[in-house]
Amino acid sequence: MNNIWLGIETSCDDTACAVLRNNGDSIDILSNCLYSQIDEHKAWGGVVPELASRAHLEKIVPVLQQALDNAKIGIKDIGQIAYTQSPGLMGSLLVGINFARGLAKDLGVKSYGVNHLDGHISSALLNSQLSTLNSQLLALIVSGGHTELVLIKEKITIGKTRDDAAGEAFDKSGKILGLGYPAGAAISKLAKNGDKNFHEFPRALNEANSFDFSFSGLKTAVLRYVQTKGEDFVKEHIADICASLQEAIADILSLKAVNAAKKHGIENLILCGGVSANYRLRELMAQRAEKSGLNLICPPAELCTDNGAMIAAAAIFTSFSK
Ligand code: KG4
Ligand code: ZN
Repeated sequence: MNNIWLGIETSCDDTACAVLRNNGDSIDILSNCLYSQIDEHKAWGGVVPELASRAHLEKIVPVLQQALDNAKIGIKDIGQIAYTQSPGLMGSLLVGINFARGLAKDLGVKSYGVNHLDGHISSALLNSQLSTLNSQLLALIVSGGHTELVLIKEKITIGKTRDDAAGEAFDKSGKILGLGYPAGAAISKLAKNGDKNFHEFPRALNEANSFDFSFSGLKTAVLRYVQTKGEDFVKEHIADICASLQEAIADILSLKAVNAAKKHGIENLILCGGVSANYRLRELMAQRAEKSGLNLICPPAELCTDNGAMIAAAAIFTSFSK
């Protein structure tokens, strides 16, 4: 079988294609290309589903061409195609699904539908040894739409958010603070120069045996804080407020993830999803994991947010385990 994989991701507001080579005992990313639609959605303060699917339609061919060029291969060199099947925005997913299946039929190769969250998990495992892949793993998936603690082998979700996802907590709080959309990266950048102990924002469901999360109260706390303190104060102390907000999110996520791994006797803890790009979350996870003797596995910075490589990787890992 041809060992070249094309990965296609169109579940939300990134049109992404990647070419990977499966060497059997390792995987090489030959290219990983992306068109970010952020500028098209920014003016609306969030992703507009109709605009997203239209942009996917316009960009998927140029992004694929770029991925082929960067990998220095032709379209006929593709051996199999992986695409995001769910979850995501229906119109956006359909563009990728139909494109992938049509292209696969045309090329006479197989195509595989992949779960987006399996993609995020796979982004962390790309550089792992087979022995790690076969061991017990617990994943903390933190993205714009999901916050979940998943036992990978058993495929059991042992905790998840009851309302907003961690990424939403960053984005919605950022909107209140006037930082635009999406705000995760902007908050993280400002927080670097701020005092994380400036203000104590709430940590919800902070009980030893609960692995569920809740972030909607945090967003309300940020709103109340801004209303009480006033715009000028917020502007003057924006770095401190961002650092305090980031600390509240990173603290509760890392605490629960490490406690869950200890309770379930699991040594390998995965941190993945767009929010795993956050430096403070990575730092706290690393500190707490080390203290508890856990092995922390994170994706490289460039694979934290949505991309095509993670989708192809998920399909390759599934074929390993067959
Ligand atoms: O995984 P992802 O690219 O898309 C979804 O599947 O949702 O995650 C996007 C989320 C957004 O909420 C964004 O604000 C957040 O990841 N994000 C960050 C950082 N970079 C992206 N959050 C905190 N710190 C960051 N550095
Ligand atoms: Zn994602």
